Amino acid sequence: MSTAISIAQQFGIGMVSVKHSNHFGMSAWVVRQAVEANMMSLVFTNSSPALPVWGGREKLMGVSPIACGAPAGANGKPFILDMAPSVAARGKIYKALRRGEKIPGDWALDGEGKTTDDPAKALEGVMLPMGGPKGSALAVMMDVFSGVLSGSAFAGDVTGPYDMSKPGDVGHFIVAIKPDLFMSLDEFKERMDTLYRRVVGAEKAHGVDRIYFPGEIEQIREDERLRDGIPYVQDEIDTLNAEAERVGVAKIKLAGSV
Ligand SMILES: NC(=O)c1ccc[n+]([C@@H]2O[C@H](COP(=O)([O-])OP(=O)(O)OC[C@H]3O[C@@H](n4cnc5c(N)ncnc54)[C@H](O)[C@@H]3O)[C@@H](O)[C@H]2O)c1
Repeated sequence: MSTAISIAQQFGIGMVSVKHSNHFGMSAWVVRQAVEANMMSLVFTNSSPALPVWGGREKLMGVSPIACGAPAGANGKPFILDMAPSVAARGKIYKALRRGEKIPGDWALDGEGKTTDDPAKALEGVMLPMGGPKGSALAVMMDVFSGVLSGSAFAGDVTGPYDMSKPGDVGHFIVAIKPDLFMSLDEFKERMDTLYRRVVGAEKAHGVDRIYFPGEIEQIREDERLRDGIPYVQDEIDTLNAEAERVGVAKIKLAGSV
């Protein structure tokens, strides 16, 4: 992203293609680098097979997140969209598995193609695309822009992050755009603040307490975690401490337990 930003500062738009990379976690951390530099951005990646294409039954596409962002002024919040093209990210299934929790029945199919609320069975099967063929098409889009264009693996050939037998060969596609190409930065930010105000101030549907701007829930959660710490279950603490010991760094500090 820093390369895309410096190109955009000079030419208005900067595009970077990354090849032979790895799973980069949440896309929003890359989008946030652009937001902090007062840039709009697109951040695409491909990933290992987890999702069938629409009408198919085998894993072929990744649940590759599509992400983008734009800065806001002092009276709004930055726009940060970061979403997997599946109903939910696969990381949420791994989290439910670690915690012994069930998952909603519309997230995945088991190895026999049946709906399941069991995270272990879901991981044997396939993720379900959000919005049917539209989610499937977004997953293909991520493969075109990230895998095909960059020269990385694509079309089902990316290696998963838990398979250490060979490189992931993931591709990324990153674009930074100067928001003050058609007006001043102040005016752009004022317009973003207007958009924020109107979105979060929209008349609420029955039973809704609050409307959030894309990215806002995660920022609220981050503030809470920085203030109160991160809640982990014992299994997660044990895993992190075993890894800390393996690489010779300090174990995590426990603030308390419930
Ligand atoms: N690198 C990879 O290969 C990979 C693969 C899959 C997922 N992921 C990461 O997993 C994470 C989770 O993905 P996800 O699809 O489950 O995200 P999600 O469904 O939790 O959120 C998707 C988007 O919707 C917005 N949103 C959610 N609830 C909202 C609400 N009530 N009001 C307004 N906006 C709301 C969020 O701010 C976010 O921008 C992402 O950070 C993604 O990058 C990474």
